[in-house]
Order: sequence, then structure tokens, then C-alpha cells
Amino acid sequence: MKFKVKIGKEISEKMVRDACAVDAIVYPENMRGDPDSCVGFFRKNPNIYTMIVNSDNNDLVGYINMMPLKEDDFKKLALGKFSDSEIMKNGPVAYDKPGKYWIYCCSIGIVPKYQNSAPVLMLISTVKSFIKRLEGKGFTIAGMAAEAISQDGEKMCKRLGFEKVCKSTAGYPVYARKGHFADD
Ligand SMILES: CC(C)(COP(=O)(O)OP(=O)(O)OC[C@H]1O[C@@H](n2cnc3c(N)ncnc32)[C@H](O)[C@@H]1OP(=O)(O)O)[C@@H](O)C(=O)NCCC(=O)NCCS
Repeated sequence: MKFKVKIGKEISEKMVRDACAVDAIVYPENMRGDPDSCVGFFRKNPNIYTMIVNSDNNDLVGYINMMPLKEDDFKKLALGKFSDSEIMKNGPVAYDKPGKYWIYCCSIGIVPKYQNSAPVLMLISTVKSFIKRLEGKGFTIAGMAAEAISQDGEKMCKRLGFEKVCKSTAGYPVYARKGHFADD
């Protein structure tokens, strides 16, 4: 089976809605992305999504959504004072000028039949290259955080050098790290 990576402008609004359909398969009901909000975030910053499609039929196989947040929003999140739904009100900032950025790893999902194979590695390595390109242009990733709502999510956070820092207002562990994982 062949897979293709799609990033930034290669991603359409329909694909963002398809990513919400992946959420409907792999996330509990209260943690799924709302399609209209996700399209709004994508319009603010199309680089938040990295997606993998099946080259044979163009079906969406999986995606990761990594949103740079306002520093204040990020810090509240990393202190457990901010819930995912509150973050969703402000959404991401754009990568519009060099400077410091704080990334919230908002969600990652792979359709079950494609899990435990190449797509997860493709997502991670594409995100690493993207971060390195950003850093090369003076966009410094000062910190990253994620709310781990599943064992799969916790495993991913630990693998990427995140440490548990607190619980979210929803009761899930919040993981964070200084800098980014692209150089690890
Ligand atoms: C989270 C999710 C995307 C991970 O994808 P996956 O295909 O299941 O990937 P796995 O974590 O099982 O990893 C498979 C293998 O890829 C490799 N791998 C995964 N991530 C890696 C990384 N960052 N670096 C190096 N290798 C990695 C490992 O060899 C791993 O095998 P191992 O667990 O036996 O060591 C997927 O499980 C999923 O969609 N889950 C449901 C949604 C969910 O819970 N999302 C997280 C919410 S916080």
C-alpha cells in the first residue's frame, strides 16, 4: 500500500472535514473536532495540519493537528488552567513573522486499519522536517504541550520527550516540553 503526505496548501477544506470524520472513529464523542471550527482554524493557519492519504483511493488515512497558540493560552494550558474547549475559542495564531511560538499538539488520529504501520512514522517525520524549516527561517519553537486523552496519546507524548505536568480541567494528563522534538 502506498501513502502520500499532504501539508499546508495541499490540504483542502474537505480534507479538514474528513479529519473530523477520522475523529468520529477514534475519539470519544466529547473530544472530537467540530468541523466548522476546524475549517476556521485551517483558514487562520493552513500549516496546522499534516495529513496522510492512501494513494490508491485518496482516502484520508490519518492526520496530526499542531496549533501555535498565543503565549498566554499556551501557558494556561500547561498549568492545567485551560481546557481544550477554551483553547478552541481563540484557535491558532498564524506563522506570520519570525519570533517565538508555542505549539499545542491538538490532535492526532489514524484510522484503525492503518495504525501500527507506516503512517504514524510519516506524520512524525513530516512534522519534524516542517519544524526544522520553520526554525531555519527564525520561527523558534519555545515549547510544546498536549492533552493526552488515551493510552496511545500518552505513549506518543512520552516518545516525543514530553513530560506530564498537570491535569487538564477535563481531568486528562497534560504533557509539555521545552523547545521541540525535531532535534531529538
Ligand atoms: C495515536 C495514534 C495516532 C498512534 O498511531 P499508531 O499507528 O497506533 O502508532 P503506535 O503508537 O502504535 O506506534 C507504532 C510503532 O511506530 C513506531 N513509532 C511511533 N511513534 C514513533 C515516534 N515518534 N518515533 C519513533 N517511532 C515511533 C514504533 O515502532 C511503534 O511501535 P511500538 O509501540 O511497538 O514501539 C493512533 O494510535 C490513534 O489514532 N489512536 C486513536 C486516537 C488517539 O488516541 N489519539 C491521541 C489522543 S491524545
